[in-house]
Amino acid sequence: MKKAFVKSYGCQMNAYDAGRMSDLLASQGYAATESVEEADVVVLNTCHIREKAADKVYSELGRLRVLKTARAEAGLDTRIVVAGCVAQAEGKEILARAPSVDVVVGPQNYHRLADLLTRSASMRVVDTEFPVEDKFDHLPIRRTAAVSSFLTVQEGCDKFCAFCVVPYTRGAEVSRSVDAILDEARKLVRGGARELTLIGQNVNAYHGAGAGGVPVALPALIRALESIPELLRLRYTTSHPNDMAEDLIRAHGEIAALMPYLHLPVQSGSTRVLQAMNRKHTSDEYRRLIERVRRVRPDIALSSDFIVGFPGETDVEFEETMRLVAEIGFASAYSFKYSPRPGTPAAERDDAVPEAVKSERLAALQSLLDAQRHAFNASAVGHVVEVLVEKAGRHPGQVAGKTPHLLPVQFDAPTAAIGTVVPVRVVRAGSNSLFGEAVTDGAAAA
Ligand code: SAH
Ligand code: SF4
Ligand code: F3S
Repeated sequence: MKKAFVKSYGCQMNAYDAGRMSDLLASQGYAATESVEEADVVVLNTCHIREKAADKVYSELGRLRVLKTARAEAGLDTRIVVAGCVAQAEGKEILARAPSVDVVVGPQNYHRLADLLTRSASMRVVDTEFPVEDKFDHLPIRRTAAVSSFLTVQEGCDKFCAFCVVPYTRGAEVSRSVDAILDEARKLVRGGARELTLIGQNVNAYHGAGAGGVPVALPALIRALESIPELLRLRYTTSHPNDMAEDLIRAHGEIAALMPYLHLPVQSGSTRVLQAMNRKHTSDEYRRLIERVRRVRPDIALSSDFIVGFPGETDVEFEETMRLVAEIGFASAYSFKYSPRPGTPAAERDDAVPEAVKSERLAALQSLLDAQRHAFNASAVGHVVEVLVEKAGRHPGQVAGKTPHLLPVQFDAPTAAIGTVVPVRVVRAGSNSLFGEAVTDGAAAA
């Protein structure tokens, strides 16, 4: 049997796409392998978001070239596919830079992967034109699914933040229909999923076709999904502050299956920088939005993304980001040094912040965010939390799962608990995970 190695380098949608490509290759007779040396097809699902992410691809392609030559000497054929957002952004330039690559395929075209592989027998192929058809209509159905699975409901972005490549690599905002999503969700649940995270670059701008083709917003989609028996938990990511509508905020207080966790990127605490980033909201508007969310759901865990060292960011403006973080308090967050991306407006600016200053700011911000994360994790100790068990744990007899606040928990239980929600008393908070004991006496009050 032929083997395929598929690797994801990017965001949750990139990981989801990688999964769908594995399923497609499986339907063509390729078994999935974790070992690149034995793969007949190697797919790198690339990310273009920061320079480092894109650079990784070329160093990996260098290694693959050596591997491909070695396999060819042993009479084995190897096809190398570059998929994802670098493929979309660089297209045929990749063929020029990396002689070992056979196929370049964009994030909206990977449903044609089997055909592209066949064509690549006689020539190297590039497929990055946005297609008219919907890739989801041409992808095979998955039979097994992780307990906690992703489901793409919306793709692309019309926001054009000054630093970001996503509107160029993923294209314009498109929402899938409620029926298509329900259909996939039911299949995932049949395959073992008990939690679904609805994903989209701007998921809270969701406006897919509902009954009679009338567009519906995210809360209506969440309510439709909630009615699927055996689907215990729902989450959604990533949201933009400007699309955080009142009914979506209210849904956090009304829908039991919707978990108390919100990833809401703010990028900066300075209104001047936010304007330069084309984020179209002020730092106080973000604060007020968080207040409204907390009024509806006081225990919600908040998460965000930050960029430090955007061109022109002053020390005072960076301090405004620190102040915002200190005031709000985040359960978790991602923070990055600004990385200029070709083709984006911010990359044209001539007021770059020196690398050393960016590093200093990132270290300061991350130490504050780390302290907040540790405090949040520690606050769970002594409480009983509902854990959705996802898999076997690190040690025999242990299982691992997540709390409603998305904190990983390890505890002793038989693997039969996988896919169920177990009340667990948290006894200790490690740096990456909580440790606890299953509550069996029914006295599960926190
Ligand atoms: N709305 C998107 C954001 C994708 S990018 C989503 O669905 O997640 C994820 C994060 O990467 C952004 O929120 C931003 O903080 C960061 N990012 C994007 N472009 C960047 C750049 N040029 N340099 C540094 N960080 C960047
Ligand atoms: Fe990028 Fe901004 Fe769109 Fe998010 S909202 S994907 S950061 S352009
Ligand atoms: Fe990267 Fe593309 Fe996701 S650039 S972050 S893989 S949308």
